[in-house]
Amino acid sequence: MSLKIGFFTKASGRADTAVAFVWTGGKLGPAAEKLDRQCGGLISFHLKNQDKFTGKKGQTLVLAASPKMPWLRIVLAGLGEADKLDALGCETSGGKLYAALAGAGAEKSIFFAEDGKTKGGVDAATGAAHIALGAKLRSYRFDKYKSKNKKGDDKNGGLASIAIQMPAADRAAKVYKKLDAVAQGVFFARDLANEPPNVLYPESYARIIKKELAPLGVKVDIIDVKQLTKLGSNAHLMVGQGSARPPCTVVMRWNGGKKGGKGPLAFVGKGVTFDTGGISIKPSAGMEDMKFDMCGSAAVVGLMKTLALRKAKVNVVGIVGLAENMPGGHAARPSDIVRTLSGQYVENLNTDAEGRLVLCDTLTYVQREYNPRLIVDLATLTGAIVVALGAEYAGAFVNDDRLWDNLQKASKATGEKLWRMPLDEAYRKAMDSAVADIRNTSTTGRDAGSCTAAGFLERFIDDNRPWAHLDIAGVAWTKADKPTSPKPAPGYGVQLLDRLVADHYE
Ligand code: BES
Ligand code: MN
Ligand code: ZN
Repeated sequence: MSLKIGFFTKASGRADTAVAFVWTGGKLGPAAEKLDRQCGGLISFHLKNQDKFTGKKGQTLVLAASPKMPWLRIVLAGLGEADKLDALGCETSGGKLYAALAGAGAEKSIFFAEDGKTKGGVDAATGAAHIALGAKLRSYRFDKYKSKNKKGDDKNGGLASIAIQMPAADRAAKVYKKLDAVAQGVFFARDLANEPPNVLYPESYARIIKKELAPLGVKVDIIDVKQLTKLGSNAHLMVGQGSARPPCTVVMRWNGGKKGGKGPLAFVGKGVTFDTGGISIKPSAGMEDMKFDMCGSAAVVGLMKTLALRKAKVNVVGIVGLAENMPGGHAARPSDIVRTLSGQYVENLNTDAEGRLVLCDTLTYVQREYNPRLIVDLATLTGAIVVALGAEYAGAFVNDDRLWDNLQKASKATGEKLWRMPLDEAYRKAMDSAVADIRNTSTTGRDAGSCTAAGFLERFIDDNRPWAHLDIAGVAWTKADKPTSPKPAPGYGVQLLDRLVADHYE
């Protein structure tokens, strides 16, 4: 059951729960005041006689209604200080509000809002639309393998609808329509991340992508083993050679922009559908999390869905390198040497450093084939980035200040945090092999493991090509719910990249 969201100027349908927005200091706007009067002063009574809920951003308070009121409960939602509220703050509040409503057992809710503009920059319509987006994003559930939930007997699964009643309903609905495209892309990315690896493996993944995106107008091409072999994408092939599930590459093109002119924007994703480590096998504790080793690719695929749904006026190529990293009789051995698509030879010293092997050929391919004006790759590439930045920030390695500037702005606007990390000649050199051109692990061991991984990738990027490598290993899945994403997989990157495209390249 997916959460229904609607905007209305007049009362429409029944609700069991009414929501009033409250500003810091317990201040009520006209819509909340009206609700307060309808409830015989219930809201102001509580604001006056308790001091826990003060209207701070993200706070909520559930009140039980009394027999004469048309609702079962009234929920107060804090929005903080009016002149500090921005779109992202609205999303966070909307997400927390969803959690409070679902937790209280609400099934149908109605939000009352008014017109006006805060000094922080959001007008009421935009604010309401972003609150709705926050709620929608938080409402995501992955329950297709829970046979019981189909009957709707999950306690937290009952919130079916949010009706937002406000004078500017039409404008809010228009803003929300674009935002819903973002939510759909994020949900797709989350669905892909959550699928178990016996269901989602390179071939099935490619099929799912095509089935979902082709009807939306995205051109989807699957490059299979035969074609990868002919091309010479041997590093990518090497990662998949220990698995019974053959690797492949999926190219997705969205051409909503002008013909000619600069090349497309390219987004590249690591799609290792399961990473056992290969012959350099990982310890079994926690290995199950390696089903998320395709989250970079999921972000790219989700982005393509969003761009198509909102008919973005831009030319984009999304490309994901898919493989399953398994040990086995055909698997690569530590010390194997492979000729990459670029012509450079790589010594595979640790088969668990497989992401870079998939990415190097995918990066070479996209540059040769599409001459993109910039590249952003996303990958759950190193455990070292988790050590450095934890679950808070993704690491961003960027060879172009302008691209970094744009990424940073998109990051601030969406709350998908990025921390810039260094690219350096020394890190590239650390990947010099004694017997081949490049090795896939650093001569400096584990030191600066994320930086040397980026140094490896940089050796496959053309001179003067703006490029950003986002190491998302720490943020691709979380142990706890976040305001706008239930655990585990937030679909990190879809919102960030969509914003990057919308604000700087459309
Ligand atoms: N997929 C892992 C990185 C990873 C680790 C992501 C933990 C999320 C959480 C990657 O393929 C990997 O195994 N990297 C190795 C590289 C090393 C062998 C040079 C790592 O980080 O240990
Ligand atoms: Mn690995
Ligand atoms: Zn991996």
